[in-house]
Amino acid sequence: MTQENVLEALKNVTYPGFTKDIVTFGFVKDIQIIDDTNITLTLDITSSADEVKTQLKEESTAALNKLGFEHVGINIIAPEAPKQLSNSVSGKNIAPHVKSFVMVSSGKGGVGKSTTSVNLAVAMAMQGKKVGLLDADIYGPNIPRMMGVEDQKPEIAGNKLNPLKAYGVEIMSMGSIMDEGAALLWRGSMIMKAIEQFLRDILWSELDVLVIDMPPGTGDAQLTLAQSVPVTAGITVTTPQEVSLDDSRRSLTMFKKLHIPTAGIIENMSGFICPSCDTESDIFGMGTTVPVAKEYDTEVIARIPIEPAIRIGGDTGMPVTYHKPDSETAKRYQEAAKNLLVFIDKVNAEGLADNSAVQPTTPPGVSACSTGAGAASTPAPAPAKGSDESCGTGCGCH
Ligand SMILES: Nc1ncnc2c1ncn2[C@@H]1O[C@H](COP(=O)(O)OP(=O)(O)OP(=O)(O)O)[C@@H](O)[C@H]1O
Ligand SMILES: [Mg+2]
Repeated sequence: MTQENVLEALKNVTYPGFTKDIVTFGFVKDIQIIDDTNITLTLDITSSADEVKTQLKEESTAALNKLGFEHVGINIIAPEAPKQLSNSVSGKNIAPHVKSFVMVSSGKGGVGKSTTSVNLAVAMAMQGKKVGLLDADIYGPNIPRMMGVEDQKPEIAGNKLNPLKAYGVEIMSMGSIMDEGAALLWRGSMIMKAIEQFLRDILWSELDVLVIDMPPGTGDAQLTLAQSVPVTAGITVTTPQEVSLDDSRRSLTMFKKLHIPTAGIIENMSGFICPSCDTESDIFGMGTTVPVAKEYDTEVIARIPIEPAIRIGGDTGMPVTYHKPDSETAKRYQEAAKNLLVFIDKVNAEGLADNSAVQPTTPPGVSACSTGAGAASTPAPAPAKGSDESCGTGCGCH
C-alpha cells in the first residue's frame, strides 16, 4: 500500500459545504503507513466547527477501512473557535449597557421562580452590585407585589420608561404598566415584542446584572430572550419531588439548546424550618436535585427551605433577604448570590455568553416563520397577509 493509494482513497472525502475533496484542498498531511492494517495521518483544516471535524473523521476512516486499514488514527488540526466577550460582538444584544443577564426558569409553575429572582436580586444588590429585576412573566406578573412597588407607576421619559426602584434594585414588570388583574390573553408574537421592549425601551442603568424572572415552561418568552441578549447564566428552580424534577430536566435541556451557560439548580421548598422551634424537617424531600445536577454537569447552588417568612415576605413586599438578614434562609440566598456572581465572572472572562447560535437562520428573502422542522433547508411560504397567529417558533416573524 502506498501513499498514492491512500490519497486516491481520500479523494472520495469532500469537505463539508464544498464540492472539492480534502486532498485537493491540501488538508491531508503526515501520512504514516505503519503496516497493512495500521495508518495515521493529520488533517489540517480551516474550520473550528465540531460537526466538520466529526464528519471528516468518520468519512476518512471509512475510506481507509475500505483499503484494508483496520486501525486508523486521524489527528485533526483546526483553528480555535473564536471567543467573544459578553456584550461585545457575541451574537445579538439589544441591551448592551447591561453587563450580565441571569435567566431564572423552571419547567413548571409555582415552584418559586419569582421568590428566588427577588431574593437573589436583593442579595446581589446588598453585595454591592448594580442590579435590575425584570419580570418577564407577562401573564402572571408577581414581582411588583413581592418588591413592594405594586402601587407605583413608572415615569415616562420621552418614548422610554424609567424602571421602579426598591431595595437597591431597578424593577420593571408588565404588572407596573397594565391595570391590576387585566386579563392578558396574549399571543406568542406579542410576548416576544413585550420582552424586546422591556430590554430596549426601559432606561436601565449600566447594570452589573439583570435578573429575569421567566414565566413557567420553555416557550416563546425564553426563546425571545435568548435571541435578544447573550444570557450569561441560567438558573433552574425546582422543588424536590420527583415529579417536579422531571420538569426541571426540561428546563435544563432548554438551557443547553439555547446555548445558555447553566449556573445551576436552586432546590426550593427543600425541608421545612419550623418557626417556633427552628428545626429543619423533611416535607417534599431534600437533596433530590443533586443527581439531576450531575446529569447536566452543573451544581445545586442553594437549598432553600420552606419557611413561612419567605411567603409572608413575598406577600407583603418585604423580601426575607433584606428584612431578616440573620435568618438561615437569608444566609442561603446570600451564599447562592455569591456563587452566582463567581459563575458570572467566569462566563464573562471566558466569553461563554454567546447567542449567535440561536439566531433565526433563514436565507435572505425567506420568511423567518419558516424556522419549523426542516425549514432551514426547505423554505416554507410566508404566512398569509394579515395573519395574526404566532408561528410558535419564536422566530419573531410577526
Ligand atoms: N421556600 C419557600 N417557603 C415558603 N413559601 C415559599 C417558598 N418559595 C416560594 N414560596 C411561596 O410559594 C408561592 C409561589 O412562589 P413563586 O410565586 O415565587 O413561584 P413561581 O415559580 O414564580 O410561580 P409562577 O410559575 O406562578 O410564576 C408564593 O406564595 C411564595 O411566597
Ligand atoms: Mg412567578
